[in-house]
Amino acid sequence: MIDNYLNLKLVPYTEKEGIPKDSDSIELIVKPEQAKDSNFHKSLTHKVEKAFTKKETDIIINHGDSRNFIVLLPKLELESVRLAGSSLYAILNKEQVTSISICGLNELSEKEIYAFLEGILLSSYNFKKYKKEEGNSSEITLYVSTQNISEKNLEELNAVIEAVCMTKTLVNEPVNYMDALKYSELAVEIGRKYGFDTEILHKDKIQALKMGGLLAVNRGSETPPTFNIFEYKPENALNKKPLVLVGKGVMFDTGGYSLKISGYMSSMKSDMAGGAAVLGILSAVANNKLPYHIVGLVPATDNKISANALVVDDVITMMDGTTVEVQNTDAEGRLVLADALTYAKRFDPELVIDMATLTGAAAAITGGLGIAMAGNAQEEMDSLKISGDEVQERLFQLPFWSEFSEMLKSDIADLKNIGGPVGGATTAAKFLEHFTDYPWIHLDIAGAAFADKPIGYRNSGATAVAVRLIYDFVKSKCK
Ligand code: BES
Ligand code: ZN
Ligand code: ZN
Repeated sequence: MIDNYLNLKLVPYTEKEGIPKDSDSIELIVKPEQAKDSNFHKSLTHKVEKAFTKKETDIIINHGDSRNFIVLLPKLELESVRLAGSSLYAILNKEQVTSISICGLNELSEKEIYAFLEGILLSSYNFKKYKKEEGNSSEITLYVSTQNISEKNLEELNAVIEAVCMTKTLVNEPVNYMDALKYSELAVEIGRKYGFDTEILHKDKIQALKMGGLLAVNRGSETPPTFNIFEYKPENALNKKPLVLVGKGVMFDTGGYSLKISGYMSSMKSDMAGGAAVLGILSAVANNKLPYHIVGLVPATDNKISANALVVDDVITMMDGTTVEVQNTDAEGRLVLADALTYAKRFDPELVIDMATLTGAAAAITGGLGIAMAGNAQEEMDSLKISGDEVQERLFQLPFWSEFSEMLKSDIADLKNIGGPVGGATTAAKFLEHFTDYPWIHLDIAGAAFADKPIGYRNSGATAVAVRLIYDFVKSKCK
């Protein structure tokens, strides 16, 4: 099973139970007056004044019998609070803290406390499976009183973080471990653990379904493809028709014969980040028992080269009968997703959201800062944008003018798999649109799915982008 690689454990406690005796403590100061009440030393009072005038977070360590970490938090926007949590985690780790409690939460709302703890927890993920030397990060237990945030909220947070960490690990694992078969094997275990159904279609079934896109991309691979179907259907579901989530599961993208050159192949183990996120979202939703019916679909294969591999100029027939002239084997994501979008039709979905590391063009627009979005369900996209701002996985809507579809016209087939020299993120989305006949949103997570260097609570490597986003979106539908 997948380890969550968290260095910090959050433990709720009631005032009656108390906390272990020699724990260190964290104190949060969100108003300068709080510092006055605390009878701080002069130099500390000065630091407090400075932090609040400049509106900058600061952390002070007070060494006594036990250590007191004073967090000065003049800005209470959720993202500032998360980042303060992240800075604090770095210090706790450096100071080799093992047991710590948190107080001074009376001035914060539950939402702010949640964000602060979220920042701490997200920072504490450390994928160390392949490190022989353990490094010096200590295991930290953080005690949080249930006076300020309910045990239920803490449990929810723990479940979401667990899903985020699992998603990151699925992505961080290299393809020599995490191939399509391993992904499916783990998916079955994950479904069993969190309470959703899994059905894995193997190559014979995929052939019987005539999933020509998935089979074409898989032609260069020694590992057979899988088509993964997940379903969470609680009895108290609020929706009549399911929300279907589709994730790109390209376990590694070499580009195929349109080979990725000069460094562009590195980190392409993250080309299944959409497929990993779909598993993460289902886990978080099922673990927290949200009353919402969700189906997940993940076509999984790598994109490699062999004598039999797909080549440019090949014409393939997709599951729905559409013929596609392949003009670039590196535009493989849309080929595997198209069949999944066709398969989604049989669920008569309320809404389909696909998430995919689809184009460098989208990454060039958003960088690592957000997600490029397109689709035909404007109201749903607007509410998804609200979730994006809430969890800081922001959405930027692409132009989606019909002229972009013209660029996908082929001389000899119904479509070709690349557009013109401009609008690469949009033409990719237009290609997908061809296979939809239901309300649909496309999320291109190519920029945000994998980080080369850490920023705040986003460690380097996989970011699990879209997990917190879609969780928040589903939760808002349950209100
Ligand atoms: N997996 C890549 C997209 C990608 C690029 C993801 C950078 C993450 C970071 C995708 O399969 C791809 O190669 N797309 C091509 C499409 C092009 C050939 C039309 C691209 O964007 O260059
Ligand atoms: Zn590619
Ligand atoms: Zn790809």
